[in-house]
Amino acid sequence: MNETFSISPGGEKFSLPEPSEYKAEFERIKNRVDQERARGREIVVVMGVGFVGAVMAAIVADTVNEKGEPSKFVIGMQRPSVRSYWKIPLLNRGVSPVKAEDPEVDPMIARCVNEKKTLMATYTYDVLKLADVVVVDVQCDYIKKELSNVRSGRTDMAALESSLALIAEHIPPEALVLIETTVAPGTTEQVAYPIMKKIFKRRGIGSEPLLAHSYERVMPGRNYVASIRDFWRVCSGINDKARKRAVKFLNEVLNTDEYPLTVMDRPIESETAKIVENSYRATILAFMDEWSLFAERNGVDLIKVIQAIKVRPTHSNIIFPGPGIGGYCLPKDGALGVWAYKHILGFEDDIFKITPLAIEINDTRGLHVGQLTRDALRNMGQPIAGADVLVLGAAYRQNVGDTRYSGSEIVIRKLAEMGAEIKVHDPYVEHWWEFEQQDTYPGEGQSKAQFFRNQEKLKDLRVEHNLDNALHDAEAVIFAVPHEKYLDLDPDRVVKLIGHPAAVIDCFGILTDDKIKRYFELGCEVKGLGRGHIQRLKEATRKG
Ligand SMILES: NC(=O)c1ccc[n+]([C@@H]2O[C@H](COP(=O)([O-])OP(=O)(O)OC[C@H]3O[C@@H](n4cnc5c(N)ncnc54)[C@H](O)[C@@H]3O)[C@@H](O)[C@H]2O)c1
Repeated sequence: MNETFSISPGGEKFSLPEPSEYKAEFERIKNRVDQERARGREIVVVMGVGFVGAVMAAIVADTVNEKGEPSKFVIGMQRPSVRSYWKIPLLNRGVSPVKAEDPEVDPMIARCVNEKKTLMATYTYDVLKLADVVVVDVQCDYIKKELSNVRSGRTDMAALESSLALIAEHIPPEALVLIETTVAPGTTEQVAYPIMKKIFKRRGIGSEPLLAHSYERVMPGRNYVASIRDFWRVCSGINDKARKRAVKFLNEVLNTDEYPLTVMDRPIESETAKIVENSYRATILAFMDEWSLFAERNGVDLIKVIQAIKVRPTHSNIIFPGPGIGGYCLPKDGALGVWAYKHILGFEDDIFKITPLAIEINDTRGLHVGQLTRDALRNMGQPIAGADVLVLGAAYRQNVGDTRYSGSEIVIRKLAEMGAEIKVHDPYVEHWWEFEQQDTYPGEGQSKAQFFRNQEKLKDLRVEHNLDNALHDAEAVIFAVPHEKYLDLDPDRVVKLIGHPAAVIDCFGILTDDKIKRYFELGCEVKGLGRGHIQRLKEATRKG
C-alpha cells in the first residue's frame, strides 16, 4: 500500500499512484483517445496543470470547429508529486485545481470534463505518445541566494529540462511542441532543441523536432480566462514548419480574430519579448519606491500625485506599488534574462543595470512597512516587540488567492524579526504554504525565512477567514492587499471590532482622507506607504 499522500488545499487526501497502476491508466486513456481521434479531434497534451496549464487546457478543450463541434481532446498531464498530484483527481471530477475570482473558470472546466467530455487529466507520461500537440506549462524558477541580490541567484530549469526530455522520448516525430513557460532567452533553441534532437536521433528519428514558443500573459483574477483566450499573443518557431503549426494551433484555440497574433522570426525574439515586457513593468514599479519615500518625508500623498499624472494619456500606466511586487512573474523574469546573457548566450561582460536593480528594490520594499508599524505603535506608547499585529491580505494582488512572492510575506517576516505577534486574514487563501511549510516550500533551502531571524514560530501561522474575529484585540492593523472586502471597511466598525484604538498602516493607498481623519478622531495612529500627507491630516484633526 502506498503511504504517500497528496493533499488538496481543501484538505482531501489522495494516495499517489502505485507503479502497477500506470499500465491500466494508459490503456484507459488510449481507448478514449482512439475514439476521439476517430471523431476527427486533435489530441492535445498540456504538460503541467498549474495556474497557467489548468486554464489553458480548459480553453483548448472548449474549442469548436466551424460547425460548432468540439475539435480538440485535451489531456492535462501532471507529474504525481506530493505537492501537485491532487490536481489530477480534482480535474477528472471537473473541479478546477486553481481558485479564481473569474466566474468563467469553474463552469468551463466542469463543462469540458463532464458535458463535452473533451478534457481529462493523468499522471502517466506515456500519453505523450498519443499527442498531436504538446503545450508545455511547467515552471521555470529563478532561485535567489540573497534577499537583495539578483546576480547571486540562478535559473532552475530542472522541471523544464526533464519535461522536454520526456516529451522527446515519447512523442510522435510530427507532434508540435509549444513551450509557453517563461524561459531564459535562448532556451528554446539552445537548451530545448539540443535535448530533443539528441533523443530523436537515439530513437532513429531523422526529422527536426517541431518546437515553438509562445508566452502566456495570463492574469489570474477576475479576467483569468479572457487573459489567455481573448488577448494578444506572440509566437515563434524554430523553423518555418514549426512556426506555421504554432500559428495554426493558436488561431484555432484563441480569439485571434479580435486579438491578432504577433509572429516573430525566432524563438529568442519571442522569449526576449516576454522578459522585456515584464522587466518594463517591474521597473516602472521599482522606480516609484524612491518617490514613495520622498512623498512620506515631504508631506506628499503619492496616490494623488499618481492620479494627477495618469490623466496624461502617455503616462496612463503609472502605478502605485504596494508593499512588494509579487506574483510568479515580475520577481523573476528579468533575472532570467540577466542570467541567460551569461549562462546560455555566453557573454562575460555585465550590461545590465536597471533590470536587476528593479527586482532588488521590489523584493525589499516590504521591509519599510516594518518601520512604519514600529513608528505608529511607538506613537501610541507601545513597542513593536510583543505587539499583536493583524495583516489584511496574503495574496500578491487584489482578489486572487495566489501567495507566490507576495509583498505581505516580507512584511510578516520583518515584523516577526522585530518581535511582533502576527495574525493574517485573507478571503481567498486557504493555506499560506510559504509559512506553514517554510522548511521545504517553495523548495528545500529556498524559503525567505533564511534572510530573517526569529522565523520558527511562523510555521504555525494560519490564514483567518472571519474578519470580525481576526480584528478582535489587534494592536496594529496593516492593509496589505486591496482585496474588495477591505475597501469599504468603515473606521468606526473596525475600531469597534478591535475593541480599542489601534495603529493602522495603509500599504496600498486604500484609505481615503476622510477615513484617515476618522481613524485619528477615534484615537488611532495612521501611517501609509507613500502617504506623507497623513501627518497634516493628523494635525488638522487634533486642532479641529
Ligand atoms: N501564473 C501566472 O500568472 C503566469 C503568467 C504568465 C506566465 N506564467 C508562466 O507560466 C509558466 C507556468 O506557471 P504556473 O503559474 O502555471 O506554474 P505552476 O507552478 O502553478 O504550474 C506548473 C505545474 O507544472 C507541473 N510540473 C512540473 N514538472 C512537471 C513535469 N515534469 N511533468 C508534468 N508536470 C510538471 C507542476 O507540478 C505544476 O503543477 C511559468 O513559466 C510562468 O512564469 C505564469
